[in-house]
Amino acid sequence: MAIIEISSLAGKDFSGDVLIVPVFSGRERHRLPLAISKVARQVMEESDFKADYLEIVPLHHPNGVKDSRWMLLVGLGDEDAVTHNKIRKAIGAAGRFCLKKGWKTIGLVSPATSILDHDEVQIAALEGVMLADYDFVKFKGKPEPKRFERVELFTNGDDTRKARRHLVQIEAGVGACHRVRDLANTPAGDLYPEAFAVLAQQLAKQHKVGIEILDPEALAKGGFNCVLAVGQGSVRTPRVIKLDYMPKEKPKKHVVLVGKGVCFDSGGLSLKDASNMETMKDDMAGAAIVLATLIACAEAQIPVQVTGIVGLVENMPSGSSYKPGDVLRSRSGKTIEVLNTDAEGRLVLADLLHYASELKPDHIVDLATLTGACLVALGDGVSGVFGEDQKLVEHLLDSGKNTGEHLWQLPLVAEYRDALKSHVADIKNISGTRWGGAISAAMFLRDFVDHGSWAHVDLSGGWSSAERDYRTHGATGEGPRWLLDWLSR
Ligand code: BES
Ligand code: MN
Ligand code: ZN
Repeated sequence: MAIIEISSLAGKDFSGDVLIVPVFSGRERHRLPLAISKVARQVMEESDFKADYLEIVPLHHPNGVKDSRWMLLVGLGDEDAVTHNKIRKAIGAAGRFCLKKGWKTIGLVSPATSILDHDEVQIAALEGVMLADYDFVKFKGKPEPKRFERVELFTNGDDTRKARRHLVQIEAGVGACHRVRDLANTPAGDLYPEAFAVLAQQLAKQHKVGIEILDPEALAKGGFNCVLAVGQGSVRTPRVIKLDYMPKEKPKKHVVLVGKGVCFDSGGLSLKDASNMETMKDDMAGAAIVLATLIACAEAQIPVQVTGIVGLVENMPSGSSYKPGDVLRSRSGKTIEVLNTDAEGRLVLADLLHYASELKPDHIVDLATLTGACLVALGDGVSGVFGEDQKLVEHLLDSGKNTGEHLWQLPLVAEYRDALKSHVADIKNISGTRWGGAISAAMFLRDFVDHGSWAHVDLSGGWSSAERDYRTHGATGEGPRWLLDWLSR
């Protein structure tokens, strides 16, 4: 990660590759350092740049800045409509521009506005540029990663103490976001259950997080029959991992995070078609979020006890696969009729949620790329949240707002449970109708939660088919930042 510096100087003293200068539209508004605002105003007067939200203009060797090769004007739009998230995203878009140019030493002028709290503005600006600093090149023939070396934030006299105090948590959150992107972008040929477990073990050791890995033998002993059934068609055998983070001081709360870790989802015998399989290496995003968040908790010393449970499997068709019509005895003892092997995530989670409930924590939150229906409902920029503990749900939604990672509540509809009745078992794994697929999946999970305070997050915002603001193409890495925000509150 780039070296971050925060100074109360004005940006005109910057020397390096590029100085990013955020500007509000409306001429009188910008209270930029004089030399810089002169340049910005000039370009605005020539009306080549209106400072519309996300508008970007590069200037070569600008006047008035000591020794910056480039200045990058980035529009924030109307000051009256500004939010932290808009700042984060506009500066993120500028960051992506710089990264692609190969610029490595970055200066950043903190947006001057009296509408928002200065400290929060500084934090959002830094996050924007740091989140953009990502390049997945591991699988290129000649990997030459474009990454920033140094980022210097200039606050023009504003107090920098809060942003400095927050730097550890900002870096932990951004690092976790990038870790999730790396894991979910990595092909399933390289990241299968055992490989994920080995990586988790290395990271846990390095960050002093407790870890327990259950191999197939231990899973059979522990009654994780659904995890085993989903994985039985693959030559890559399943694993369940339990991670434990304990803060140094006695924690006030205990939270369990549960992650779906389907390293590849072919659909199994209920095989997906080619195009629907293209992105299924990312069906372990929930597990990646849980692992990355636990590491970040240790880095930022979050004052809550956090346990992570992830179920890692490959869902494949073969002679040994589980089959439509099979009845599984889940860890809870409830039996499940499998009518579609592509509804595999809920089967894995059934065992994990029952395991999580046994730990009797204060809250359980599961994260899963569970349904295409949630994507249909919300699009790929918003994830769905379900839960009956409305206070918990609202806290999660608030953290989504705080971090600019969009969450939206969807209802648990008791009536829809009827559609999951099986003729031969206690429940079946599909409802038999396309309508409300994200809700019926959540209703299925609810049967296996033996705990009062639970929320389920259907990760429709986990994969982006296009580059947007600080988000790169592919895995978005959303999750750890809102989880950290919630856990730290
Ligand atoms: N992993 C998929 C859900 C998914 C699909 C996430 C596309 C992101 C993009 C999940 O395992 C799945 O296949 N769900 C089925 C459920 C259906 C068989 C009831 C789906 O959504 O089609
Ligand atoms: Mn599936
Ligand atoms: Zn899946």
